[in-house]
This record gives sequence, structure tokens and C-alpha cells, in this order.
Amino acid sequence: MSPLQPPEVADYLTHLAVAEHRDQVLDEMELRAGEMGFPIIGRSAARFLEVAARSIGAKRVLELGSGFGYSAYFFAGAVGADGEVVCSDLDPANADRAEGYLRRAGRWGPVRWWTGDGLEVLAAQGGEFDVIFCDVDKEAYPDCWRAAAERLRVGGLWLCDNVLWDGRVAGYGQPGPPEREAVIDPIRDMTRLVVDDERYVSSIIPLRDGVQMALRVS
Ligand SMILES: C[S@@+](CC[C@H](N)C(=O)[O-])C[C@H]1O[C@@H](n2cnc3c(N)ncnc32)[C@H](O)[C@@H]1O
Repeated sequence: MSPLQPPEVADYLTHLAVAEHRDQVLDEMELRAGEMGFPIIGRSAARFLEVAARSIGAKRVLELGSGFGYSAYFFAGAVGADGEVVCSDLDPANADRAEGYLRRAGRWGPVRWWTGDGLEVLAAQGGEFDVIFCDVDKEAYPDCWRAAAERLRVGGLWLCDNVLWDGRVAGYGQPGPPEREAVIDPIRDMTRLVVDDERYVSSIIPLRDGVQMALRVS
């Protein structure tokens, strides 16, 4: 739960997203994330990712940091059975978890799962992407942007989670643990690189922990 949104507002947004699409598998993934303290993007922001991908007719998506497949669930819905969602995650244990959930949900078809560093996975793929979604460890954000910016088609979208970092990027709130404070600069640096790139038009949607969206226009 981000301190940036009153809990009542966050619950309202979540309940709307749940009302629009109910699935027992998603409920189980959210329960697992809660029990493990695993940082999934959450229902309202995930729904936004799906809407963004659908709005540009995305058929080819790459995720940097897929966890156990929660955000991929929404991208798989957006691209449909004839699309492709290239997933990457460092933790080998997440591959089987994701496959289990996404098969049961009928959304494994478009998924190509890679265990490894997201930037290496990106480098191993040919061609351009319609969407690149970034959710890896935050110190890698600037390098992820630099690589992704070259691999999106004109009309494609960069999407990136946690760009407000509980408001710490703007000096809001009390300092957190040193490891959280240490990634404020990389998140800010990446955000600034996006803003300064004249090929992209960007905005930050303050849903949950902040989702950056940048449309490639040239
Ligand atoms: C915030 S979680 C991803 C959550 C997922 N996007 C979701 O919303 O369901 C971050 C994940 O990124 C993975 N990760 C961290 N650094 C990575 C990297 N450089 N390349 C690939 N995966 C990475 C971690 O193993 C972790 O599972």
C-alpha cells in the first residue's frame, strides 16, 4: 500500500478493477504476494497496464522483471492468443510458479518465459516491441531505459512501475531503510532521461507507487 493514496481511495480503485474482471487465479496470485511480501504491481495499476497496451493494439510486449507472472497475466490478456509476451526474471523459482498460474488462467499461450537478467533477455530478442514494461531492481532503471528506448517501435510504449517510490523521489515522507534510499537517485535519473528524450512524450500516472508511461513519437 503506497502512502501516496488514502487507503479508501486505493480500495475504491482496486474494487473497480476487480469488479471489471474476476478470476480465481488472480485472487490466488494476490494472496500469495501478500503472504510472501512479494511486490506485485497490484490490481488497479495492472489494469492500467492492460488498458495502455490495448490502446495501441500491442501484440509484442517485453517485461523486465516478471516476478511470478502477475503483470504478465494482464499483458497476455491485452495481446491475445496470437500475440507475444516475453517475460524475464532473475529468480529461477518464478518460472514454474508463473507457468502454473498462467496455464490455469488460460493465459500461458502468448508467454515466452526467460530466466535471467532482463537486459540480456532483451538483447537476445530480435526486432521491435510495442510495449516494454520495466519492474526490475531499481538501480538498473537507467540502463533499462537506455536499452528499451532503442527497441520500441514508433507508437510504442515504455511503462515503468515505482517511479514515485512512496514520494521519496520528491522528498516526501520520512527516509526509509538505506537500501530503499539508495535507489532514489537511479529512479530520478531514469525519469529525467525519459523526460529529456525528444523521441518520447511521457507522463506519470500516480496510481499506487507511480507508473511512468512514455509514447515513442519519432
Ligand atoms: C517488483 S518484482 C516484479 C513484479 C511483477 N512485475 C508483477 O507486478 O507481477 C521484481 C522482480 O524482478 C526480478 N528482477 C530483479 N532484477 C532483475 C533483472 N535485472 N532482470 C530480471 N529480473 C530481475 C526479481 O527477481 C523480481 O521477481
